Amino acid sequence: MHRAFLRGTGHSAQDVRRYPVIGIANSASDLSPCNAGLAHLVDDVKQGVREAGGLPLAFPTISISEPFTRPTSLYLRNLMSMDIEEMISTAPIDGVVLLGGCDKTVPAQIMGAVSANKPAVMLVAGPRPVSCHRDNPELTVDDAWPLCDARRAGTVDDDEWGELEANLNTGVGTCNVLGTAASMAAVAEVLGFALPGSSFQDATSPSRTEIARATGQAAVAAARDGRTPRERITLAALENAFRTVTALGGSTNTVIHLEAIAGRAGHRIGIDRFDDWSRTTAYLANVRPGGTHTLPALAAIGGVPRVMHEIRADLHLAERTALGTTWARALDGVATTDPGDVLFARPEPGSLRVLRGNLAPAGALVKLAGVRSDVLLRHRGRVIVFDGIEDLNARIDDPGLDVDASSILVLRGLGPVGAPGMPEVGHLPIPAKLHRAGVTDMVRISDARMSGTSTGMVVLHVAPEAAVGGPLAYLRDGDEVEIDVAAGTLRHLVDEDELLARTPVPVRSGPARGFGRLHADHVLQADEGCDFDFLQDPLVAEPSEHQAPAALP
Ligand code: FES
Repeated sequence: MHRAFLRGTGHSAQDVRRYPVIGIANSASDLSPCNAGLAHLVDDVKQGVREAGGLPLAFPTISISEPFTRPTSLYLRNLMSMDIEEMISTAPIDGVVLLGGCDKTVPAQIMGAVSANKPAVMLVAGPRPVSCHRDNPELTVDDAWPLCDARRAGTVDDDEWGELEANLNTGVGTCNVLGTAASMAAVAEVLGFALPGSSFQDATSPSRTEIARATGQAAVAAARDGRTPRERITLAALENAFRTVTALGGSTNTVIHLEAIAGRAGHRIGIDRFDDWSRTTAYLANVRPGGTHTLPALAAIGGVPRVMHEIRADLHLAERTALGTTWARALDGVATTDPGDVLFARPEPGSLRVLRGNLAPAGALVKLAGVRSDVLLRHRGRVIVFDGIEDLNARIDDPGLDVDASSILVLRGLGPVGAPGMPEVGHLPIPAKLHRAGVTDMVRISDARMSGTSTGMVVLHVAPEAAVGGPLAYLRDGDEVEIDVAAGTLRHLVDEDELLARTPVPVRSGPARGFGRLHADHVLQADEGCDFDFLQDPLVAEPSEHQAPAALP
């Protein structure tokens, strides 16, 4: 019956007897500009599958776009992973090629593929071209943040704002710095889904066609060899992926997605282990947003495998690439020409730090890449608390706001349950009056996330979040908070009895029906990866081997 139905769509008798049958999960969409270019690569993937003897069958999936999904694309990541899992599981296919790109599409596809556990290879969209603007010869998406601050402070006029609208994105593809999309593309490569060296090749370059064909061929090989995703998701592979991301200075979102991917394979990483891996890995990439170079410069010196080569002493080299070879063998073939200053070891290792304390009993994250003032790494200040985005927008630029450069801005009620989905708003803007006075960075604290393209002294993913009664819910304007990144602590200095006598804010009831109800009832906190509890592998309830016990200060 399968063959008969395919014959009806024009496949020949020979065609429908090809083996293996490779599904192509296509997330190209007009509503996801970062993934839009994937539509043009489907035929190249199909050609690769055919060249290797397989039968390619493409199918559409949910596509989630960071800029076009409200309140945030993480809200729909688990839904997309369910779509991917069920499409792979229920279709008569032997393997799959996953076409993803924008921030949450790549982890959603990996999560779904691990749960479905049929051979899977991934083709990521690649970054969009670097542009230019007035006297800036290399305009990239992270330039948007200081330009937004300047616009709010009144130093960017309407003409320049209009130019920026035209210049910021001059082509399809993912964000063109080491943001979440690039970080997760690197993860896909290290975990053996995407082909080695494929992640940072420009979305519009001719090399994408070659990569697409090679990906189709690799999917056929993976299906014939019976290499399944779950066998690739070992703790060793997850460690390799995170060490590579922290060497790159990549996104804080990686922690959430890697924990969710681990959970689908029965592992729990735990934020203490992330912290340990970060503190023992050199931070190498001098690439935006934490450095000065662009992604094409990193691609030119060898991309992800080149960075892995630099930290190979810290990696588990018996893990496998998407081609089925060991990373030891793959890295032996990496050209090690002089990287110039695109790669250099900072004095401080790792680009991410975990903080704990009475304000974040289950942890919080800070990205060191791009923090503009070391002074802020150890800081005590009085908080100004904003309850949600509307409150923030209404008051942040109020000339009467009682704020100075030593203040700590707190944004709460925007965690996994609260927003819902932890929108990327934790990078609170600098109040306009301080921006005009020359302040470029301040301590900010939130239970939300921030874009991987953002930088600054921003403490994110505070857990438990305010909406489920975490300590953040009890703060009031004027309370003192102390942060010490070197010591890994985040504490409020309010008397505990006084704090607990307060009424927590906010109290949320959540939606009454539909996906929103499902999300509110089952989403896990940030330190657990924000997956739905019922989607994790049952084994995850057991702590993974070597799991360090959580030490609460
Ligand atoms: Fe899609 Fe950045 S908004 S990759």
